[in-house]
Formats: sequence, structure tokens, C-alpha cells
Amino acid sequence: VNADPQSEPARLEVGLGARSYDILVGAGLLADAGTYLSGVLAAPRVVVVTDGNVAPHHLAPLEAALDAAAIQHAAIVLEAGEQTKDFSHLQDLVGKLLGQGVDRGTTLVALGGGVVGDITGFAAAIVLRGIDFVQIPTTLLAQVDSSVGGKTGINAENGKNLVGAFHQPKLVIADTETLNTLAPRELRAGYAEVVKYGLIGDRVFFDWLAENASRILNGDADARRHAVVTSCLAKADVVSEDEHEHGRRALLNLGHTFGHALEAETGFGDELLHGEAVAIGMVLAFELSARLGLCPEADAVAVRGHLQDLGLPVGLGGLKHDAWSAEILLSHMASDKKVRGGKPTFILARGIGAAFSTDDVDTGAVRALLEDALAA
Ligand SMILES: NC(=O)c1ccc[n+]([C@@H]2O[C@H](COP(=O)([O-])OP(=O)(O)OC[C@H]3O[C@@H](n4cnc5c(N)ncnc54)[C@H](O)[C@@H]3O)[C@@H](O)[C@H]2O)c1
Ligand SMILES: [Zn+2]
Repeated sequence: VNADPQSEPARLEVGLGARSYDILVGAGLLADAGTYLSGVLAAPRVVVVTDGNVAPHHLAPLEAALDAAAIQHAAIVLEAGEQTKDFSHLQDLVGKLLGQGVDRGTTLVALGGGVVGDITGFAAAIVLRGIDFVQIPTTLLAQVDSSVGGKTGINAENGKNLVGAFHQPKLVIADTETLNTLAPRELRAGYAEVVKYGLIGDRVFFDWLAENASRILNGDADARRHAVVTSCLAKADVVSEDEHEHGRRALLNLGHTFGHALEAETGFGDELLHGEAVAIGMVLAFELSARLGLCPEADAVAVRGHLQDLGLPVGLGGLKHDAWSAEILLSHMASDKKVRGGKPTFILARGIGAAFSTDDVDTGAVRALLEDALAA
């Protein structure tokens, strides 16, 4: 990854040969989006795709920026929420795009969170066998995770994110000021993915977060910029080495094997947001690592303490889990799409900043951990 974190805005290049692209990070970038876009558009025509929560705050400023750069634009406003990431909404979106006469020179602009980014990116991957798209992520989760890496897609009846394509954006514009309108709970959930990068491979970043997390949550522009830049660097570094997720990219699933089991039980809904599930999952992964003698107990305690201090869930206590059992959770883990050859892969840690991937974990230890978590 080629990076110029000090420039204004910060500029990181995701190195993927001919498909390389920049991630721009800074406060107030939306106002200059036309200028940044002009550098990557095949033709001065875009269709902005956004959702009903984002549009009232951020669509008009983006449209003004496009006008200022003489870029033609149309907008499609999707219904907000995860249920939008399905076949029928994709069909509707593709129909509207074709109805508006998109051609190979048109670029789609995804203005929103991971839902808008995923469905817009997938539409861009399949319309006319593939047109360009740009990400303007407006949630913390999307700025540090979903907008980078080129995974696009929708959910199927059989499960989340089972239909999609790798399609890299031409540019990512992460304007940290757009986070000012995001619900605090969504911001906190996204923060769990920020912590994840520290836990995977960067103890210095984790220590910085332990000091500065409240600045990030309270809107401090410099702290947000540092958090987003460091997270994107970490993700871009993994993606440019392992675009299609064979090896190192698996580390990004820290906390996700446990997390997905909890999301499956809570129905992927409002009771437990994805980032909240990941927070609990990371605590469980560190606890398991400590129990297996791989990781100092003090590190597991530090992870739990930090997330708890910020108001993220760190156990199953707040969830309606009367009907759950360790067996049910284990069966969700075994059917996770990342499972290869029957055994779930776990991301464990030798300490904060030292995660590794293994499919050789004693099921008895996992069952005991889950039983204790359910009983707590
Ligand atoms: N492609 C990937 O690599 C990848 C990685 C992680 C997650 N994802 C996907 O991302 C999705 C989750 O993303 P998310 O957490 O951003 O969810 P989201 O897109 O649903 O956004 C969360 C909520 O915040 C609202 N919102 C977004 N930006 C706002 C703003 N600036 N102000 C006010 N409201 C705003 C949205 O309308 C929504 O109600 C999931 O579908 C997940 O599968 C994809
Ligand atoms: Zn995640």
C-alpha cells in the first residue's frame, strides 16, 4: 500500500495492478467530491445510489459538488436497511439504472453504509457486464471495512452475502464529517471493526485506541482521521496481498465466527448489530485463546475492558438467549460459509496484535467457553 497519511486529504493507494485505486480520508471531502471524481470518471456522468436515511443529510451537498464540477447526475434512493440487500431490490435497482440509460461510461456512486455499498457495487459488477463505481461510505463500518476490498453482493434466502462478485471501486472517498449524522449506536458498532485491526496485528494502534476511543466517538476530526486511515491501511494491505481471500485475508474474520453464530440466532436484526456481534466475538476469541494457554490472560481482560468501557456488549447477558445452547451456536459456526472441509476456522491470538488462523481447535474447549458465556 502506497500511503500519504499526512497529505490533505490523506491518500492511500490500494495496489492491485491495473485495478489499483485510492482511498481518500478527511473531514469535509463531500464538498470537493466533484473534483476527486473528475480524476477517475470515464465520462462526466454518474448515478448516485443512496438510502432514505442518508439522502436527507448528504445527497444535496454531493449533488452541489457534482454540479460544480460539471458532472451530470441522477439519484436513486433505496429503502434503508439490511432487507434492501436482496434479489428483488437488486432487480429493481438494475431496472432503474437501465431505464435511466446507463452506458459503459456511466459511473455509479454508492453514498451510504455497507448496505448501499454492497448492492450498488454488485449492480455495477453486473450491469452491462460491469461498469465503474465509486464508494462514498457514510458509516464508520463502511469507512473502515466494507468500502475497501472489492467484495460486493446481496443476501440470499439461504444466508447473508451468499451472492456477489469481486468488483473493485475506482475510488473511495471517506468523509469523516458524514459520521456526525450517524446514530451513536451505529457509530459504536462500527468502532468494533476499528479495534479489530489493532487486535489482529497492531498493538500500538490498540494502545492508541485505548486512549483515544472517546475522541473518535465524540466527533474529534483528527482522531477519526487517524482511526480510519490506520484501519484502511491495515485492510488495504491485506487485500492487495490476498484479493480473493485465500490466506491472510482470513484474519479479518477475527470475532466473526462467534459473531455470525450470534447474529444467526438473533436474526441479523436490531437486537444485535453486526459490529456488536463482532465485539462479543472478539472477546470470546481472546478468552478462548487465553484458556488454551496461547494468550496472556491480561490481554483478554484488556480487550473485554476496553469494549465494555465504550458501551459495546461483551457477553451474552443482554440478549434473549433462553432458547440457545452451546450446540446450537456450534452448529451455526460449522455452517459458516468460511468453513472448509467441515471444521470451522478460528482466528485466535497469541496476544493483542498477534492474531493467527487455525482450524485445529478442540471443539470441547469451544463448547465449554460457550456454556460459560450462556451461564454468565
Ligand atoms: N463488502 C464487504 O466487504 C463488507 C464488509 C463488512 C460488512 N459488509 C456489509 O455491510 C452492511 C453493514 O453496513 P453498515 O453497518 O454500514 O449498515 P447500513 O448501510 O445499514 O447503515 C446503518 C444504518 O445507518 C444509516 N446511515 C448510514 N449512514 C448514515 C449517516 N451518515 N447518517 C445517518 N444515517 C446513516 C443507514 O441508513 C442504516 O439505517 C452489511 O450488509 C454487511 O454485510 C460488507
Ligand atoms: Zn465485520
